[in-house]
Amino acid sequence: MTPRLRLFVNIDHVATLRQARRGHEPDPIEAARLCEHAGADGITAHLREDRRHIQDADILRLSSAVTTALNLECAALDEMLALAEQIRPQEVTLVPERRMEVTTEGGLDVVRNVTELADAVTRMKRAGVRSSLFIDPDPAQIQAARDIGADAIELHTGTYAHHPDDPATLAALADGTQLGRSLGLAVHAGHGLTVYNVGPVAAIDGIEELNIGHSIVSRAVFVGLAEAVREVRHVMSLARP
Ligand code: PXP
Repeated sequence: MTPRLRLFVNIDHVATLRQARRGHEPDPIEAARLCEHAGADGITAHLREDRRHIQDADILRLSSAVTTALNLECAALDEMLALAEQIRPQEVTLVPERRMEVTTEGGLDVVRNVTELADAVTRMKRAGVRSSLFIDPDPAQIQAARDIGADAIELHTGTYAHHPDDPATLAALADGTQLGRSLGLAVHAGHGLTVYNVGPVAAIDGIEELNIGHSIVSRAVFVGLAEAVREVRHVMSLARP
């Protein structure tokens, strides 16, 4: 049966704006509340090693303020995993991280980092936290995610977002979704999705969660955050009635 499609809004870039002045506004926790009222099914926040946007204190506040579900995005580092064990969000999405990158570039190499990622997944399981691995729609990576016991995969939609007119990019996401589901994994997707390109991804049968951040926060500058969330939700519901 096709699972319901959830929208998780990534509020990192509200914190990016705050960090431009290192003050108190705009407050990502207030943004999370607005997104939830506007129909988001969950809130995603990425705690990066360099703390360029979301701070540890934000994660602690989000963990008590979020009433839907909190998805903590982080690298599989001990300090991040320890925080996840402390706050026990509904979900942890493990991502690769390079300090010099502007945003997350490419998915995790699960095949080459089996030991480290298997340990992280085991720690999350013990803490009662669902684990999702951010990977490219590559069959070997999907199989490896399954082999180490992840609950979910998040398929990297960046290649599709850069080349939406190349049917191969969407086909890779559809095939990856089918493979993931056949292996018993929940399938999420995200990165670079916007109100203009999200429709075909939302229409892929079997995807159950989309994580969208930059485009919603950018659009919010012009139409407000609640409206920006509603616009994406609307396109998603047209694609997956
Ligand atoms: N999913 C993951 C794993 C990410 O790392 C990010 C970016 O932090 C997103 C989704 C959201 O991407 P975007 O900001 O391009 O919507």
